[in-house]
Amino acid sequence: MVVLRVPATTANLGPGFDTLGMALNMYNYIAMVETGNDLVIEVEGDGAEKVPRNTSNLVYKAASRVFQRVSHQPKGLRIKIENNIPMARGLGSSASVIVGGMVAANYITGSRLSYDQLLHMATCMEGHPDNVAPALIGGIVISAQFDEEIIYRRIQPPAGLTTVVAIPDYELSTREARNALPAKVPMDDAVYNMSRTSLLVWAFMNSDMELMGKAMEDKLHQPYRMSLIPGMDKVAQAAREMGAYSVALSGAGPTIIAFCTSNKSEAIGKTMKRTFKEAGVQCSIKDLTPETNGVKIIKEKGVQLWA
Ligand code: HSE
Repeated sequence: MVVLRVPATTANLGPGFDTLGMALNMYNYIAMVETGNDLVIEVEGDGAEKVPRNTSNLVYKAASRVFQRVSHQPKGLRIKIENNIPMARGLGSSASVIVGGMVAANYITGSRLSYDQLLHMATCMEGHPDNVAPALIGGIVISAQFDEEIIYRRIQPPAGLTTVVAIPDYELSTREARNALPAKVPMDDAVYNMSRTSLLVWAFMNSDMELMGKAMEDKLHQPYRMSLIPGMDKVAQAAREMGAYSVALSGAGPTIIAFCTSNKSEAIGKTMKRTFKEAGVQCSIKDLTPETNGVKIIKEKGVQLWA
């Protein structure tokens, strides 16, 4: 039996579309054990009623890919999921259950696959590496998909950096948010994003918050997604006026994430909530900090999960 904790993630970080992501201190918990009986899936927490309890469950599907890869036929499986990451909000909930399912299945079959192999498999399942990579290894991760591998590098998040997330009360599927994107982009916009992404990586590595604020600008995805998120521009503007270094769409949205110091987070959260409300969107506000650990095997949580 294994019990895992998997962090939420925020992908893109502005200009780093499908490339940059950061783990956050909000977690899903996943327990898995071979029982010798049938498939039993239990789900608690956020959106639990919508999560399938059969073979179309995402944790099960992810685990099955690992079982298949290592030629293991599980004899009955019991899976328990404690869902704390809101679903379809741009905080990496699907990445967390894919990573959790794969790491749990790998663990109970003798850890035969490396994290690099798991990252490649998880990316193939998710479609892009920027959420699964930080969910697996924590911190800020730069990742790129090559033919047979994901090449990635981890950056330690700057000390003292915190975030405020405004999570709208409606879901936006990644598919819908990707369908809003054009098939081609102007060369100027591509150059704009390359230059900002490169500077942003330097800013993170050198804890240069002012530069981070300037570099976290995007022309490749956020402008196209704005119509799906009422008030997005105004919420970002209001957060900046209250002292956020930078503001971005978290992953594919609809959550908006502001990067700031902790002494500013309360005022930023209040203004984001109010501005969203003025646009007709109810949201919840959370202060989240960068998580340096990726998926983690925990023992103590197991007692509660299986009680
Ligand atoms: N990079 C992906 C996107 C993240 O923006 O579509 C999805 O969570």
